[in-house]
Amino acid sequence: MGPQRPRREQRTQRTKARGPLCILCILGVLCGLVSSLGCRQDMHDQPKFKPLAKNTFFADNRSARPQVTGTVARGQLREDAHLYTGKMGGAFVEVFPFPVTEDVLRSGRERYQIFCTPCHGQLGKGDGIIVQRGYRKPSSLHIDRLRNEKPGYFFDVITNGFGAMPDYAAQVPVKDRWAIAAYIRALQLSQNATLEDVPAEHRKDLAAPVPPPSAPGETRHQ
Ligand code: HEC
Repeated sequence: MGPQRPRREQRTQRTKARGPLCILCILGVLCGLVSSLGCRQDMHDQPKFKPLAKNTFFADNRSARPQVTGTVARGQLREDAHLYTGKMGGAFVEVFPFPVTEDVLRSGRERYQIFCTPCHGQLGKGDGIIVQRGYRKPSSLHIDRLRNEKPGYFFDVITNGFGAMPDYAAQVPVKDRWAIAAYIRALQLSQNATLEDVPAEHRKDLAAPVPPPSAPGETRHQ
């Protein structure tokens, strides 16, 4: 029996010591639960500012901050005034900023037909479907004043809009705007061409009967 006593004593001591420890543990877990509930952050409620939200941290209360003066964001360096504004020394440029190849004209035609025909019509006569439904009618692109306008002018009208016409800077990238301007030049030439403009070997083709327009849905090969 003798050797058992100290063991029982030890056990009692251990139990005594474990009691307060366990209470501490439970308290700790409870505290943790309570505090974690208090700090709960749902994903839909994020500590960020929505665009143009108020922020009292800044004196002007705007959360959207202006760009730091003198900094240029990647891809926004617009040093080439000819390319980006269509103007040099305040005057509209007379030449295109890159060579007008057949590819440029083809992509210009495609972009023109997407963005401009709804109002200006396929041929630029100002008779697009939106105009037929009552929108302000633009001048034909074939009037003398516009035939004599410089390429930079057309780039500027697309970039900044003109009177009732909205600008297309957001929808049409810079190079596509120039391609459209080049296609307008081609349209102007096409609508004011004379027999002399047709190469001699192709003049006989003009007498050939015009093929009927293809049926809707049929692929047209050009
Ligand atoms: C929603 C209709 C609309 C669309 C789309 C549109 N325009 Fe226009 N555009 C107009 C109207 C209307 C005017 C005349 C504005 C006025 O006189 O207030 C005009 C005027 C112009 C002019 C003549 C400016 C002048 O000096 O008379 C040019 C050039 C032109 N647009 C080019 C374009 C090109 C290129 C596109 C395609 C990228 C385009 N427009 C798309 C409606 C449109």
